[in-house]
Amino acid sequence: VEEQGYKAWLQYTLKNDKQKDYYSSYLRVITYHQESEVIDAATKELSRAVKGMLGISPEIKKSSIDEQSEGVLLTLNSHTSKAYQSFNKELDRYQIEQMGKQIIISSNSDKGILYGVFHLLRIIQSDESIEGLLITEKPRNQLRMINQWDNMDGSIERGYAGSSIFYQDNQFIGDEERVEDYARLLSSVGINAISINNVNVHKVETTLITDLLPEVKKTAAIFRKYGITLFLSINYSSPIEIGGLTTADPLDQDVQAWWAEAAKNIYTQIPDFGGFVVKADSEHRPGPFTYGRDHTDGANMLAEALKPHGGIVIWRCFVYNCLQDWRDRKTDRARAAYDHFHPLDGQFADNVILQVKNGPMDFQVREPVSPLIGALKKTNHLLELQVTQEYTGQQKHLCYLVPQWKEVLDFDTYANGEGTEIHNIIAGDVYDYQYSGLAAVSNIGADLNWTGHDLAQANLYGYGRLCWNPTLDMQELTLEWIHQTFGKSDRLVDSLLKIMLQSWETYEKYTAPLGVGWMVNPHHHYGPNVDGYEYSVWGTYHYADRDGVGVDRTMETGTGYTEQYYKPNADIYNSLTKCPDELILFFHHVPYTHQLQSGKTVIQTIYDTHFEGVEDVKALLDEWLSMEGEIDEQRFKAISQRLSDQFEHSKQWRDMINTYFYRKSGIKDEQDRLIY
Ligand code: GCU
Repeated sequence: VEEQGYKAWLQYTLKNDKQKDYYSSYLRVITYHQESEVIDAATKELSRAVKGMLGISPEIKKSSIDEQSEGVLLTLNSHTSKAYQSFNKELDRYQIEQMGKQIIISSNSDKGILYGVFHLLRIIQSDESIEGLLITEKPRNQLRMINQWDNMDGSIERGYAGSSIFYQDNQFIGDEERVEDYARLLSSVGINAISINNVNVHKVETTLITDLLPEVKKTAAIFRKYGITLFLSINYSSPIEIGGLTTADPLDQDVQAWWAEAAKNIYTQIPDFGGFVVKADSEHRPGPFTYGRDHTDGANMLAEALKPHGGIVIWRCFVYNCLQDWRDRKTDRARAAYDHFHPLDGQFADNVILQVKNGPMDFQVREPVSPLIGALKKTNHLLELQVTQEYTGQQKHLCYLVPQWKEVLDFDTYANGEGTEIHNIIAGDVYDYQYSGLAAVSNIGADLNWTGHDLAQANLYGYGRLCWNPTLDMQELTLEWIHQTFGKSDRLVDSLLKIMLQSWETYEKYTAPLGVGWMVNPHHHYGPNVDGYEYSVWGTYHYADRDGVGVDRTMETGTGYTEQYYKPNADIYNSLTKCPDELILFFHHVPYTHQLQSGKTVIQTIYDTHFEGVEDVKALLDEWLSMEGEIDEQRFKAISQRLSDQFEHSKQWRDMINTYFYRKSGIKDEQDRLIY
């Protein structure tokens, strides 16, 4: 597909003549030493890129000796081409070296070579120099995973970019080209694992591990070429739903035998199958609780079934009481993951990984970091992020999430004293995990530009790059994406960088204030509705009355959630004066007149941020519109439309939130701006 939106950051735009001459001298020939389908994908990618950028078809040749002296050489260090163990950082390591007219890309695995090729292409796409290249890279994280929340009817749970690229009408679509192009995008940023169906596993999807296996196998083959291991989300009640048993009790022998047999069948078809992603006893999904068992019983039983084949169980920690009584102020959803899983630390099998959402609630624009990460010292775990913008504007609003993720990754948990940042924990540097890394909910769909909002592509790009290296400088990472996606004109680069980096804060300003979260329309979660969840069962309250607002999570008078953090975080969050302003309503119930560290009152901060937020969107829109002519018309128009819709919608947010709090508190805006 030739459309620019579709090519995302793999544009491979034709260079000018000078650049063509320069790069061509290195790229006329591609030689590889060993054969494998991943190396094949690497040579294809290179040759596609060379055709696009330089307008020549490189000569591709296999050679067993090092006789060649020009062009790109792809070579395995160990001179083997057998199957490689997945999820090994050392095997993902690669080197790119320029010597004379040659560029040598070497690695201990074919995957590493592919990553090296994508790195080289990033350099060339960004018009950088080849001379003196000597790069050695290895990923910080072992598992770098994407979770598709696709259903087989073609819908995507929390998807905002059209229907599924995988399924339609309860069948696989079989569009190999589209899936392969997705695999290319993922692999180009180092993603090495994917689960291809929603964590909420309905009737048809339950049979992915049985009847639908031949189709799963075909999909696995596409991803395999790009070094991406395929996982499936499973239904914990499969033994009942499709196995004809009367129970799914993990301690029941028939149940155990059923899963062992199911695993065996899967591995007969897909020998390098990754394993299962499991949402159990969460939001009405079945799980071991029904049988009086706990998460370890459930997860370890599945782990046992997968173990002989090298498979992994990824068990999600998004477990909480979703039938809460709003009158009950003791139960605190934020506490739930820690309360459920912390006592079980050390009891999970080696091939179980717990997947923990970045915050204790659910992917709000602002949450503290989950206290469970770092508290599990003897249990493998993955940090879960949400690339799809469920609560952050649903890809109608621009909300570049890399700044949020950087804050999460850089958060010091103090789990092992000062300097125990989240990125160190999930990289496996702090505790001796067998497996660790990141997983995130994808934001792509069948829309031609993948993500609905063209600029939302940056979230997918940024997620992958941060998986590879969470300490990458945010500005550099964003520039990388801009250069590859839109080119290098100074005006464009400066403006776009500004727009992207500011967008998260802007979104935060005009939506739910000061860390309290929610205030969205129930179910679909788009648009303002301050009391939308206030009297619901979901445990997501703000408790605003005429005097004040916020959730008291302190040890003394609140739910005691602050206690789940290590010191000094526990003390900071627990203290009304030390708690960071942006989280004050997450941790404390305060009067509207409470003075924040900024010197402003809570109510005035609410008014100010909401007026500012809308002005920021206007500024962002104007900045974008000033770039007309710098960007192809199609993307320019599509993005302009979304930004102006965002501007209108941000006013709705501003006015509803401000009016709500003005009416509750009766306190006027100091600047006497229009509140309804
Ligand atoms: C959120 C989201 C659900 C999803 C759930 C999960 O609650 O709204 O659609 O299923 O997270 O992560 O399991």
